[in-house]
Parts: sequence; C-alpha cells; structure tokens
Amino acid sequence: MTAYDALAEVYEWLISDAKLAPAEFAASFDDALRLLPPGAHVLDCSCGTGQLAVGLAGLGMQVVATDASEAMVRRTAKLSEEFGAAVRTLRAGWEELPGHFDDSTFDMVFCVGNSLHHAAGAKGRVAALESMARLLRPGGHLVLTSRTWELVRARGSRLDIGDRLVRRNGRAAVVVYRWEIAPTWAEEHHIEIAIAQVDAAGPVLVRSELLSCWPYRYEELEAELRRVGLRTELSTFDPEAENYTVVASKV
Ligand SMILES: C[S@@+](CC[C@H](N)C(=O)[O-])C[C@H]1O[C@@H](n2cnc3c(N)ncnc32)[C@H](O)[C@@H]1O
Repeated sequence: MTAYDALAEVYEWLISDAKLAPAEFAASFDDALRLLPPGAHVLDCSCGTGQLAVGLAGLGMQVVATDASEAMVRRTAKLSEEFGAAVRTLRAGWEELPGHFDDSTFDMVFCVGNSLHHAAGAKGRVAALESMARLLRPGGHLVLTSRTWELVRARGSRLDIGDRLVRRNGRAAVVVYRWEIAPTWAEEHHIEIAIAQVDAAGPVLVRSELLSCWPYRYEELEAELRRVGLRTELSTFDPEAENYTVVASKV
C-alpha cells in the first residue's frame, strides 16, 4: 500500500482544472508530441488518475499507463473505460518496469506532475531514470515535469492553505499542504496533504496523507539524465518559475 493509494479516491481535488480534461492535459505537451510518429508507442510511468494517458490515446497513440499505486492504476483503467480509450494499465514502480517491458519499447516516456521527487534520493532517482531510459528506443524521448525545488526549499517549512474552495463531483473542498523541509537537500522531506470536503448540510470529510519526497536541484537532474544516456533537448527551467518541463532524448 502506497500513500497514493489513500489519496487516489480524492485525487481530483488535487489536480488543476487544466489537467481534468484528458484532451487538454495531452495538449499541454504539444511541443513534445510533435516529435512523435503517428501511432507512436508511449508510456506514462506515473499515471495517477489517468487523464494524460487517456488524452494521449485520444490522439491515436498506443498507450501504456503504469503507477506504483494499485488504486491509481484502477482509476486510470476506469477513466479509460469511460472514454472508450484503449490504454493498457499495469501496477509497477519505476524500478520494476524493465521486468515488464523489453528495452527500446517506447517512442516517448512521460513522468509528469511532480512524481520523480518520490524516488528515494539520488540513488533511487538515477535507478528510476535508468529504467525509463532503457525502455526508450534510441532517439526516443523522456518528458519530465518538476517543481522548482530551489524555490520550494528557499521558502522553508510552511503551511499552504488553499484560499478558494475546489469543486469536483458536486462537492467543495479546502486543500492544505504542509511542507516539511529538511535541513539538507539529501534528506527525506515531507509534504502532508489534507483535503477537507465541506458541505453546510453534512459532516466535514477529511482525508490526509504524509508523502515522502527527495528534492533535487536542476543541475543535478541534468547530470543524472546524462548519466543514464539521455540528452536534454528542451528545457523550460527558470529559477524564478514554480515548475519546469524537460524533454530529453536517448542518445
Ligand atoms: C503527484 S502524482 C502525479 C500523477 C499524474 N502524473 C498527474 O500529473 O496527475 C505522483 C504519482 O507518482 C506515483 N509514484 C510515486 N512513486 C512511484 C514509483 N516509485 N514508481 C511509479 N510511480 C510512482 C504516485 O503513485 C502518483 O500517482
């Protein structure tokens, strides 16, 4: 059981409006998708509730969606069914992927939405990136999105309390993030997420979960990508911006 198994049921309150519609989520990667041949084989290796995988299938791609959380994989399978999308789903952590797929199977691998920081430290991260790189065909591309941890760490431990209600499935919720920033980069950090569904006519339903994460600097990530045989071809990294995207190709 992973921490995300408990969050899966309420995950829509955590994703932005822009990521809710599968077609819109996929379209946000238009620049990377232009690099693909028609009917390309793609893997979303931290698929969460499946919006990206379903959106990619809607564009005619052959999509496999994997995640370490069984509950997340079930949600992806359910969303695919609802959209009539042919997405193959499988529960697998990053390091388990080479046991399920031959090397060079995919044209593109996605690891998006603040997932990679869940890999345990530099060693875990390199092992995860190595798995992703192995599954890419030569010339294939890894698409990665990340928080700018330089900014997150500079702010220190803190509470972020959503200043508006998030409405999903006819229910409103307040979302709280508690950031536990360790003294050094290499240590385990924590993000505690609480979703309080509020309704004047009924009880407040609270779900909270403590997630472990290991931050990394942008330069470390670049070096680690090179170490696993990936060359950065596009990067939106800006030390002042909250998030960035990296597209790296297999040499
Ligand atoms: C913040 S969510 C992002 C989900 C989705 N990509 C999105 O953008 O909404 C992080 C996801 O990474 C998955 N994850 C965490 N550790 C993992 C691992 N070792 N291998 C594969 N997936 C993992 C979690 O289960 C979760 O679904």
